[in-house]
Amino acid sequence: MSNSVILKTPIPGPKSREIAAKKMQYVPKAFATLAPFYIADGHGALVRDADGNQFIDFTGGWGCLIVGHTPKRVCNAISDQAAKYIHTDFTAVPYEPFVVLAERLAKLAPGHGPKQVAFFNSGAEAIENAVKIARKYTKRRAVVVFEGAFHGRTLLTMTMTHKASPYKAGFGPFASDIYRLPFPNLYRNNMSIADFDRAFAALVDPMEVAAIVVEPLQGEGGFVVPVEGFLEYLRKFTDQYGIVLVADEIQTGVGRTGKFFAVEHYGVEPDLITIAKSIAAGLPLSAVIGKKKIYDSIPESSIGGTYVGNPVACRAAIEVLNIIEEDNLLDRAVAIGGIVRARFVDMQQKYQIIGDVRGLGAMLGMELVKDHSTKEPAKEECSAIVQECLHHGLIIPSAGIYGNVLRMLVSLTITDEQLNEGLDILERAIQKVSS
Ligand SMILES: Cc1ncc(COP(=O)(O)O)c(C=O)c1O
Repeated sequence: MSNSVILKTPIPGPKSREIAAKKMQYVPKAFATLAPFYIADGHGALVRDADGNQFIDFTGGWGCLIVGHTPKRVCNAISDQAAKYIHTDFTAVPYEPFVVLAERLAKLAPGHGPKQVAFFNSGAEAIENAVKIARKYTKRRAVVVFEGAFHGRTLLTMTMTHKASPYKAGFGPFASDIYRLPFPNLYRNNMSIADFDRAFAALVDPMEVAAIVVEPLQGEGGFVVPVEGFLEYLRKFTDQYGIVLVADEIQTGVGRTGKFFAVEHYGVEPDLITIAKSIAAGLPLSAVIGKKKIYDSIPESSIGGTYVGNPVACRAAIEVLNIIEEDNLLDRAVAIGGIVRARFVDMQQKYQIIGDVRGLGAMLGMELVKDHSTKEPAKEECSAIVQECLHHGLIIPSAGIYGNVLRMLVSLTITDEQLNEGLDILERAIQKVSS
């Protein structure tokens, strides 16, 4: 039996409370935090706070830590690079790690045709640029997105994001030419591909659409898996009308689902793929991996930015790719998925509150409902479970348009013992809150 969790003080402890008091004064309340304590250090899937309490971390920095907190090889690469040069701007004085990483990612992308890679800083920036690229290439304006989608918080990506509160309410006016369709899935809308086709026909002329942007498995929307055949259908549809298919793999990519890109589960080759989060172990880096013929239509100096593809972040990312390959983290994602799914399904049989268990590989979630037939979201219960977990040593994220999905964004370097200890805490919390 593992005992990674060490609780020495009430949560939050006195040092964390002291920092929190200053936070209240100097940091906007918009920066609400899940954990009520402040980190001192983190290693692998464990986090120690300022008061010496140790927690199991299922959030992985909102999905940025596939390789865990402070992996040695990444830390060494960061120090080595920082001692050489921290910044030049690639378009002023170019550097090799940018090119090496571009080659590695281009070769990992599904499909056989030539690919190129542009780097940016955040997920939202990658999506913004994917839309710009698609519009320039197709000379069209419309962009189709989905209900439940999350694509970021900038003007364009906030418009593309679905959930109104807290992401959009009061932040308008929004960007134009964005069209939204339901995301066909089994649990919430039971929509078929034929229904989707009819909805599309009524919404926008496909010949005016530059891009369809889709998460192969919705993340913030509540770990929603599309109905079988949907991604494949989108590929056929976009080919038929000359639309750029953009896979937003910012949460699903870099191995979490057991494949490097989640689209590989569907055998689909998108035109553009966006990644961010785990690619540089938490340093700000994102990428748009795209077909060369599309990038050939983008003029010199028309996309970019001062910090994009920072050399320290590129070196970290190269190490992340090395760790994924050498430590077989894709297989580990499948193994973690197996353990978690079995535990979630077992809990579903015991606790009425669990309406659905779903996901791919280690990207698994459970949707909590008050009633199995009405599927009324159990949002308050979900928050209560998260809080209960926090006070017993587990940091677990929630998600979903209705805020009623518990999800796993755990580091793939977690041990089986730590994973089961965390799942035990979760089960006790579910039992307590739902009894
Ligand atoms: C699927 C998806 N797209 C885009 C984003 C936005 O990324 P960022 O917060 O780095 O801008 C996120 C962030 O959670 C995401 O999950």
